Amino acid sequence: MKRVSRIAILAWWLCALGGAAPFSHRVHLKLRPDCTSCHTTVTHSTGVEDNNLPSPAVCKPCHESVSIPPPPPTRLVHFSHEKHLQLGNIGPIIAKAIDTNRYLSPAGDLRANLSGTNACLACHRGIDTSDAVSRANMPQMADCLVCHNKIELPFSCEQCHGPGARLRPADHPPEFLESHSRPDAKFDKTTCALCHGRQFRCLGCH
Ligand code: HEC
Ligand code: HEC
Ligand code: HEC
Ligand code: HEC
Ligand code: HEC
Ligand code: HEC
Ligand code: HEC
Repeated sequence: MKRVSRIAILAWWLCALGGAAPFSHRVHLKLRPDCTSCHTTVTHSTGVEDNNLPSPAVCKPCHESVSIPPPPPTRLVHFSHEKHLQLGNIGPIIAKAIDTNRYLSPAGDLRANLSGTNACLACHRGIDTSDAVSRANMPQMADCLVCHNKIELPFSCEQCHGPGARLRPADHPPEFLESHSRPDAKFDKTTCALCHGRQFRCLGCH
């Protein structure tokens, strides 16, 4: 108890001096290593409309007052933390997909972040070492498609994005069916599989 209250005074002091600063998971995880001690609702959250950010009461022991922004925007309509957390740590499953070339986006340096034991960090990579939350800490579509691997545009998209979502990328101009097959067409073919899969047939050409 004594230790916490000294930290609390320090924190209050720093806040009084410095004004608003971004929330650092790196700093706070040293004090509270368990994600769900702050994100208390997440293990029973079944929909994207749930707000799983901490309530200000969680911060009270150490901070007089805090401001917690709304959750980040998402293009998903369906996602259940509860169901997916029941699968355990899915890090090794995503890692294996990358190793066997089944991961549908360029993996970049993502592979190195998948060997931890924290189930949350398999999807929210790098948040434990971050000093401010960012888009990079949220899972990308290719993570989901490791398991949800039946791609049938547009029908399979509805499972996560709901019906009627506008999913046509900006790099598909209206005449794209024609222009994409021109010999001088310049696009990065490694990016197409994410939405079209690696096996598809289209009007007899593929
Ligand atoms: C001390 C409390 C605390 C702990 C512990 C904590 N978080 Fe957070 N988390 C927060 C707060 C506060 C925010 C909102 C920060 C913001 O938006 O600036 C947040 C935001 C997030 C977000 C949303 C990111 C975004 O863009 O807004 C995710 C995902 C997240 N935390 C995951 C985790 C994971 C995974 C862990 C464990 C490794 C964890 N958190 C541990 C307090 C905590
Ligand atoms: C299978 C991947 C996956 C796992 C595992 C996962 N999340 Fe998430 N998380 C997501 C996705 C997708 C979103 C964005 C959609 C949404 O808001 O539900 C998200 C959003 C969030 C948000 C911000 C939006 C909100 O719901 O308030 C927080 C906070 C969060 N997750 C915390 C956690 C914590 C803590 C854990 C571990 C107990 C965890 N997540 C495990 C995929 C995951
Ligand atoms: C166990 C004590 C503890 C808890 C609980 C805690 N913090 Fe902190 N917080 C600290 C300490 C210590 C620092 C100072 C970190 C440093 O030295 O950089 C800090 C720093 C901060 C800062 C940056 C400094 C500033 O200007 O305010 C923010 C923002 C912050 N905390 C938000 C939160 C939020 C939001 C919660 C609740 C979700 C929370 N903290 C819960 C101990 C705590
Ligand atoms: C490790 C494999 C795996 C990964 C990765 C995965 N899922 Fe799932 N998902 C499942 C399984 C298994 C079910 C069936 C769970 C059930 O119904 O009990 C499921 C069910 C679903 C459902 C329908 C069930 C419901 O009620 O929500 C949606 C939507 C979904 N997942 C979205 C996602 C999204 C979005 C991601 C990426 C952020 C993702 N999944 C990543 C295995 C996975
Ligand atoms: C299993 C879940 C799942 C399925 C199925 C799925 N997506 Fe996604 N999609 C995601 C996730 C997760 C994101 C990124 C997270 C977010 O935007 O909140 C995303 C993002 C996107 C984006 C935005 C990309 C960006 O950079 O902003 C587009 C466009 C998209 N998906 C199109 C599609 C299309 C087209 C299909 C069907 C072929 C599809 N999605 C099927 C989970 C899914
Ligand atoms: C007139 C023939 C033709 C038609 C019809 C056609 N394509 Fe293509 N497509 C091509 C050619 C040629 C390429 C370039 C292949 C190469 O450079 O190896 C290509 C490339 C692609 C690529 C890049 C990845 C790959 O397989 O090389 C995707 C994705 C693609 N087409 C999707 C589609 C879709 C979806 C449709 C149906 C809506 C379609 N195409 C219809 C001729 C066609
Ligand atoms: C983010 C998801 C996404 C990615 C990535 C993507 N597409 Fe598509 N693509 C779509 C959607 C959605 C449609 C269907 C548009 C519609 O029905 O209006 C489509 C349609 C097409 C068509 C049919 C013609 C048309 O204009 O409707 C072709 C050809 C095509 N894509 C080629 C490609 C090629 C080549 C790549 C890689 C460079 C690629 N796509 C990457 C989502 C994607």
